Amino acid sequence: MTLLRLLANLGYGSRREVARMIRAGEVTDADGNVLGEKSRPDHGGILVRGEPPDPAAPLVVMLHKPPGFTCSREDPGRVVHELLPPRFAARNPPLSPVGRLDKETTGLLLFTDDGGLLHRWISPKSGCGKTYIASLDRPLRGDEAGIFASGELVLRGETRPLRPAEMTVIDPHTARLTLTEGRYHQVRRMFAACGNHVVALHRCAFGSLELPGDLAPRQWRVVPEEVWRGMV
Ligand code: URA
Repeated sequence: MTLLRLLANLGYGSRREVARMIRAGEVTDADGNVLGEKSRPDHGGILVRGEPPDPAAPLVVMLHKPPGFTCSREDPGRVVHELLPPRFAARNPPLSPVGRLDKETTGLLLFTDDGGLLHRWISPKSGCGKTYIASLDRPLRGDEAGIFASGELVLRGETRPLRPAEMTVIDPHTARLTLTEGRYHQVRRMFAACGNHVVALHRCAFGSLELPGDLAPRQWRVVPEEVWRGMV
């Protein structure tokens, strides 16, 4: 693939903008030699303004989602894409969120440009657990873990029971819950079915990947391939 096409696919700009960057000498090899737009360097042998370029597909990125951002451009208000560099949205193939979090839910949100990975991670069949910390309005009754684990809970307006989910008590007003599916407002509706109300919801893990303690709200990071390969 030519340098021009490679950088355009990585979202560094339109072909015209990338051609301008290359002509301006902003793209070099590791020794600082300026590369031409028709050159065909390996992805690993390129520096863009002195920095290695973003990884080629498949790219996986984690974001510490803050409250107040939606995951869909169709919903009103600010979108999570705004928290990532604009070049990520311009990649070909584009970077999409792996499932959705509600506007007020915080925590670990993944993005990928690989449709196969995205499908695998959100498909209930894969058994990939998503773990949440739910803060509750009322004290836990004590029967919630059994109800959630039963595989018999049917949410209001639905006919198909939920898959069994694992809940542990952190304190009387806080529970940790792992789901292997992602129905609309699922955690909030599960607690509503038990007569409670979720006042704050935070996703702390996706499969075996935990939200790193040093990734502050609004910050993002590329997930290395060796980490996401072992994730489910
Ligand atoms: N369940 C919810 O209710 N909301 C989320 O954002 C995720 C899971």
